[in-house]
Amino acid sequence: MSTERWTFGGDTSVARIGYGAMRLTGWPKGEPPARDTALGILRRAVELGVNHIDTSNYYARDGIAANELIREALHPYPDDLVIVTKVGALVEGADVARPAADKTGLTPDNLRRGVEANLRSLGLDRLDVVNLRMGDLDRSLTPLAEPLETLLALRDEGLIRHLGVSNVTAAEFAEARRIAPIVCVQNLYNLSRREDDALVDACAAAGVAYVPYFPVGGFQPLAAARLDTVAARHGATVSQVALAWLLARSPNILLIPGTGSPAHLEENIAAGALRLTGRDLAELG
Ligand SMILES: NC(=O)c1ccc[n+]([C@@H]2O[C@H](COP(=O)([O-])OP(=O)(O)OC[C@H]3O[C@@H](n4cnc5c(N)ncnc54)[C@H](OP(=O)(O)O)[C@@H]3O)[C@@H](O)[C@H]2O)c1
Repeated sequence: MSTERWTFGGDTSVARIGYGAMRLTGWPKGEPPARDTALGILRRAVELGVNHIDTSNYYARDGIAANELIREALHPYPDDLVIVTKVGALVEGADVARPAADKTGLTPDNLRRGVEANLRSLGLDRLDVVNLRMGDLDRSLTPLAEPLETLLALRDEGLIRHLGVSNVTAAEFAEARRIAPIVCVQNLYNLSRREDDALVDACAAAGVAYVPYFPVGGFQPLAAARLDTVAARHGATVSQVALAWLLARSPNILLIPGTGSPAHLEENIAAGALRLTGRDLAELG
């Protein structure tokens, strides 16, 4: 594990390599690992220095829920463990039903239900970081201000320590920062999806973490000849090069690769030791 760290909101320190728990559940698709494997991955991640786990109550399918696995594997939680959740997506999962009428998790009631469901399933009194997840919806009908103000009120009630935003545009990020202190942005970004380049830099300039989802390609594994070349030069894997590229891209980028494979977990964390050269970075484009 690399020793590099980042601090959310001035008081919540995390290692730059974390772990994303969605893959443990088979949500929204795919085969989840066996329960013992999933619990073992969470425990091993923490053993290896991971203290930033990304999850949500709606990462749940067929009776397998990410928050419940995290709680069983790691509760009582280490003091420095930072569990980042998200609310606002269509609310599905083990303990919150899909809202029928408005089909959005962004209403005040559904945001509260999402926060409470995360607190309950994780066994916490306060959530370290909650991302307001925009997306899946007609954006012209769902402005960011109102749901963010709802989360700010829940923070002021003491249910949340820090706020982040997810699936946002650069304009929404700027708007969010006018409404509330924002400690992280979680959007799609990786070696072959760089639409957010300017937003990564805007976050860095504002001292805000940028946490890319799909860091190794998500449901479409990254594949490119240039990646193979750089990986071969270092005796590394393509995933490791993809992760090392993100770490090199900007110091505010934090990684949350997801895996249901113990071997891939070790590999992803070891990517923190991979130093890409100027030549590598030039070839990766
Ligand atoms: N805010 C949002 O809207 C949003 C959306 C999606 C995800 N997320 C969060 O972001 C996290 C990361 O995204 P993700 O897990 O979907 O994408 P990802 O980390 O890019 O990719 C996960 C996929 O890559 C494979 N993989 C991981 N490490 C590998 C390795 N070393 N070698 C080969 N294959 C490897 C995994 O399969 P194996 O199991 O076989 O390793 C899995 O299929 C999620 O866990 C979730 O917490 C947030």
